[in-house]
Amino acid sequence: MHPDVAWAVWSGERARRVESVVDGFLPPATEPPQRLHEAMRYAVLGGGKRVRALLAYAAGELTSADPAVVDRAAAAVELIHAYSLIHDDLPCMDDDVLRRGKPTCHIAFGEATALLAGDALQSCAFEALAAAPLRDRGQAVLLLAQAVGSRGMAGGQEIDLAAAGQSLDLAELEHMHALKTSALIRAAVRLGADCGRPMSADENDALHRYASAIGLAFQVVDDVLDVEGTAQSLGKTAGKDAVQRKSTYVTLMGLAAARERIETLHVAARTTLTGFGTGARRLLELADWIVARTH
Ligand code: IPE
Ligand code: IPE
Ligand code: MG
Ligand code: MG
Ligand code: MG
Repeated sequence: MHPDVAWAVWSGERARRVESVVDGFLPPATEPPQRLHEAMRYAVLGGGKRVRALLAYAAGELTSADPAVVDRAAAAVELIHAYSLIHDDLPCMDDDVLRRGKPTCHIAFGEATALLAGDALQSCAFEALAAAPLRDRGQAVLLLAQAVGSRGMAGGQEIDLAAAGQSLDLAELEHMHALKTSALIRAAVRLGADCGRPMSADENDALHRYASAIGLAFQVVDDVLDVEGTAQSLGKTAGKDAVQRKSTYVTLMGLAAARERIETLHVAARTTLTGFGTGARRLLELADWIVARTH
């Protein structure tokens, strides 16, 4: 099979797989309080690229993990991600009306229900992990909690809001991106890898460097796409960062330098995987896909 076709088959299969795990894990929309359950399902199911889940499955391949063991880790990171998007879109944050080609959760269900749906999705993520068939569930829960709290994603979101209209320097900007976006991506990779054979300290370190590079690249690409994409291609409002005077790679460095940074991070991510052999195939493909994506 041509490598591009094999990648499309693998990523499509894994994306469907996590969709069905999340679907089975979430309370049905018919269960009271129906409106809250409907909002939760609306925000997670039937959309999104599932990058974080794919990273967990791909990292699992590196350590020969059984995908059935990775399922809950993949579901947990997508549940957290969906919660972060609901809150990110609220009027008190980025005030967005379009997400994954549909009205944002608060437009469809109202602000209060959207807020609660985000809260409940976060709980669901930890529930999914805490009851998962993992070697060390406590470690997995700790890892995710640290990635998404005030020293991780939530902290990065706070910095993002405070940085609007400010001029951050490059180190401050990279710190913000490392927290708001890369922290969850790093957790996805680590959680997936931890589902398989134990890794050596060197392997752990290499995988951490891969995830940090690709996590940062992911947000720089998002910043570029905000300028270059359209609502049609992105499924979310384009051009918002400039309007809201957000601090992004593009506002700080310009488009050409942002593109160069993406390519440097791409090469760095690929290079860290050279010692892993064929087990790293999906992680390499994901690195290529993340930097080349158009949505
Ligand atoms: C958007 O994430 C928010 C960022 C962290 C940049 P994605 O681009 O992964 O969004 P979905 O899941 O595909 O909708
Ligand atoms: C969001 O970053 C990061 C999150 C933790 C959700 P953005 O605000 O740039 O994401 P989009 O562009 O709205 O998807
Ligand atoms: Mg934001
Ligand atoms: Mg936003
Ligand atoms: Mg953005």
